[in-house]
Amino acid sequence: MEIRMTDINKSFGDVQVLKNAGVHVKEKEIHALMGENGAGKSTLMKILTGVYMKDSGKIEINGEVQEIESIRDGENKGIAFIHQELNVLNEMSIVDNMFLGKEIKNKFGLVDKTTMAKLAKEKLLLLGLDVDPNTLIKDISVGKRQLVEIAKALLMEAELIIMDEPTAALTDKEIDLLFKIIRDLKEKGVSFVYISHRMEEIFELCDEITIMRDGEFIGQKTIAETNFDEIVSMMVGYDLDDRFPRVDVEPGEVVLSVKELTHKGKFEDINFEVREGEVLGFSGLMGSGRTEIMHAIFGNIPFDSGTVYINQKEVKINSPIVAQRLGIGFITEDRKNEGLILSFSVAENTVMPSLRTFTKNKLIQKGQISEVVAEYIRKLNVRTPNQTINVGNLSGGNQQKVVIAKWLITKPKLLILDEPTRGVDVGAKKEIYEIINELKKEGVALIVVSSELPEVLGISDRIAVMHEGKLKKIFDIKEATQEKIMEYATGGGV
Ligand SMILES: Nc1ncnc2c1ncn2[C@@H]1O[C@H](COP(=O)(O)OP(=O)(O)OP(=O)(O)O)[C@@H](O)[C@H]1O
Ligand SMILES: [Mg+2]
Repeated sequence: MEIRMTDINKSFGDVQVLKNAGVHVKEKEIHALMGENGAGKSTLMKILTGVYMKDSGKIEINGEVQEIESIRDGENKGIAFIHQELNVLNEMSIVDNMFLGKEIKNKFGLVDKTTMAKLAKEKLLLLGLDVDPNTLIKDISVGKRQLVEIAKALLMEAELIIMDEPTAALTDKEIDLLFKIIRDLKEKGVSFVYISHRMEEIFELCDEITIMRDGEFIGQKTIAETNFDEIVSMMVGYDLDDRFPRVDVEPGEVVLSVKELTHKGKFEDINFEVREGEVLGFSGLMGSGRTEIMHAIFGNIPFDSGTVYINQKEVKINSPIVAQRLGIGFITEDRKNEGLILSFSVAENTVMPSLRTFTKNKLIQKGQISEVVAEYIRKLNVRTPNQTINVGNLSGGNQQKVVIAKWLITKPKLLILDEPTRGVDVGAKKEIYEIINELKKEGVALIVVSSELPEVLGISDRIAVMHEGKLKKIFDIKEATQEKIMEYATGGGV
C-alpha cells in the first residue's frame, strides 16, 4: 500500500500541533518516523487511522485522495495501528480482543466462538505464538501482547501496519522475533510505519525515514544515504555534541547499602552500596532481576532475607511510604501503571508524592503548588500547554518528564531511576543526564537501571552487572567497556 499525507494541519484548542506535516510511505517499505517528544508523530498517525480528524491537508492511498472518517473506516481501508500505549484490554481473552467489534456470528445470530478461536489460532501460529486463544491478555507477556496486536492486523488483512514505539518494553529476544516478523510481512507486501527513539533499530530495520520537528515535515531520506548525526541534527535543529556530559564529584558518605538481599527465584545474595554524589549504574539483560531489586528496596515487593541500611542504620522498608520517609525516590520503568494517573492533570501528578509538604492546617496550598510545578516544567522543559491539562494528553516522552519531576520535588537523598530515558528523544535524554549531574553535585546518591549500554557507560561512576538474579560484577567506570559488560551480563567472564 502506498500512502501520501501532505500539508496536514491539526490543532487541539488553540495549540497547533501539526503544521503542514506529511509522510510518503511506498509499497513494501518499512518507513521510520522520527522526531523529538511532542513533535507530532503519534498525532499524524492517529489522523491516518481515523482516531483524530485533520483540520486540513490531503491523504492519498495508492494515488487516490481519501478521507478517513473513523477508526473503523481506517481499518476497512487496510490500515492497522499498534499504539504506543498498547490498546489491548487486559481482562479480555486473546480471541475476544482480536475480534472486538468484529465478532463473527453464526446463522442464528449468535457469536461463533469456535470459528473465531480457530481463526485467531491460525494467525497466532503464523507469528510463531502457540497459545490458547482463550488465555486472558493479562496472563501473557508484553512481548506476546505485541504479537497479538499484529495477529489482529493480519486478521483484518492490513496492508499498512503502524507501530508506535513497539520495542519499549520488549526483551532482546522478543525484539529479534518482532523484526523477523516485520521483515517477513514486508516480503509479503505489507508496508510499515515504524516509530522509535532507538536509532540502532531504525538503521537495522528501516528503508526510509521521515523526520518531524515541532509538528512540521523536515525531511525524508533513505536509510542508506543518511547517518546518526544527520538525523539527530534534523530532529533537534542543531548539532548535538557531547551526548553524555559528565561531571566528576568526590563521593561522600555511604547512603544505601544492601547486604545479602535475596528473593528466591528473582535475585540472590545481592551486595552493593551507593554514596552521596555517586551514580551506580545497573546493567544486565531484561529479566535479570534489576527491576525486582529496586522494587524490593523501595518496599513494593517483599524479600526473603538480607538487610538494607540507610546512612549505616538498618531499616525495614515494608511499603513505599516508609521508603519515601527515609528519603528514597523511585522513578519506575512502567509509567503507565506505576508512574502516572493519566486522567489527572499535569499539576496533580507532579505533586502527588510530595502533597504532604504542600498542606498547611489541612489546607492544600494551591498557589505554592502551581509555582513549584511551573518551576519544574521549565527545568525539565516539559512540553505542555498548561498545568491543568490531563497528563494523558501529553506526548509519551513528556509524560516521562512529569514522572521525573514529581520525584525531584520530594528532594530524595537516594534516587532510583529505572530506564529513565526509555521513549525519550535524544535532546531530552541529554536534559535528563544533566539533571542527574545536578543531583550528583547536590550530593544525592543515584542508581540508574538501563538497558542501553552507551547510556550506562556515559553516566555511571560504577556499574553493577546482573545475570539471572545474581550480581556478577561491579565495574569501576575506568575499567568498564561494552564488551566486558556484555560478557558478564550473558553469564560469562568469571
Ligand atoms: N488529545 C490531545 N489534546 C491536547 N493536546 C494533545 C492531544 N494529543 C496530543 N497533543 C499534543 O500534541 C503534541 C504532539 O503529540 P504527539 O503525541 O503526536 O507527539 P509524539 O511525536 O508522538 O511524541 P513522543 O515521542 O513523546 O511520543 C504534544 O504537544 C501533545 O501534548
Ligand atoms: Mg508518540
